[in-house]
Amino acid sequence: MNFKEEQNRRIEEIEGIIRNYLPEETGYQKTVIQAMNYSVLAGGKRLRPLLMKETYGMMGGRGREIEPFLAAIEMVHTYSLVHDDLPAMDNDEYRRGRKTTHVMYGEAMAILAGDGLLNLAFETAAKAFELGGDPVLVGRALALFAGKSGIYGMIGGQTADIESEEKGGITEELLLFIHEHKTAALIQSAMMTGAILAGASRQDVDKLEKIGYNIGIAFQIQDDILDITGDTDTLGKSVGSDEKNNKVTYVTIKGLEQAQADQRAYSEEAVSLLRSFANRNLFLENMVEALITRRK
Ligand code: IPE
Ligand code: IPE
Ligand code: MG
Ligand code: MG
Ligand code: MG
Repeated sequence: MNFKEEQNRRIEEIEGIIRNYLPEETGYQKTVIQAMNYSVLAGGKRLRPLLMKETYGMMGGRGREIEPFLAAIEMVHTYSLVHDDLPAMDNDEYRRGRKTTHVMYGEAMAILAGDGLLNLAFETAAKAFELGGDPVLVGRALALFAGKSGIYGMIGGQTADIESEEKGGITEELLLFIHEHKTAALIQSAMMTGAILAGASRQDVDKLEKIGYNIGIAFQIQDDILDITGDTDTLGKSVGSDEKNNKVTYVTIKGLEQAQADQRAYSEEAVSLLRSFANRNLFLENMVEALITRRK
């Protein structure tokens, strides 16, 4: 099997796990549940659960307690997208090849669907306690996951991102703060929780935080590039969103060519750190390398 086929096989496995943890569309709260499932089942690259599962395996994890965490991180990521697309934020109408959740269900339901996914994520992750997870490790993983999703993680980055629209004159330092928090934090969370659940040493978890930082910055630089050079059909989401919103992006600060070069350098740094583990995961290294030239 070539890399792409193997990746698709692993994505399908993850899709099955995610579906297992989605709520049934019944009861008086049916509409919000439909909106939640609509956004999660739209697809997407499933990058964060993939990174989590591969890191868990690389660090020797072999149990099932990882499964609810795989679903949970995709729920937090999806909620961040639903809210990111709202009129009050980026005001975008396409996502994952479909109309955005607020266009389909209205703004109020989209806000509630995001809130619903955030809470369901932690309810789901806590099921790791019942699947044979070591309670101390599951507790540590939950705390890290919550932190990286919150004001010192993703939400903090989104806050600075939104405020930067009016400011102008954003420094490179502030832009890196935004990229590190709005995007790298969840990628770090994916890799670090995978490692923690597998019982990895502090030293290895710290190294994965650095790797996640490099992947995350590279990933957001490429996202900024594709917002300019990509097309809606391939990307499955609106393009030109950053310019519309007067965003300062990696490309506006450094120019397209430098952005491409830096993206590659961050990705290569991540791969070289990945190669330093005693038990290497070649599939994971391949995955990170493939992100360098991604078009979606
Ligand atoms: C989009 O994330 C938001 C960013 C952090 C750039 P993805 O590009 O991973 O979106 P999906 O999950 O594939 O839809
Ligand atoms: C969003 O960054 C990162 C999130 C935490 C959702 P963007 O606003 O650039 O993401 P896209 O381009 O809409 O996916
Ligand atoms: Mg945004
Ligand atoms: Mg956006
Ligand atoms: Mg973007």
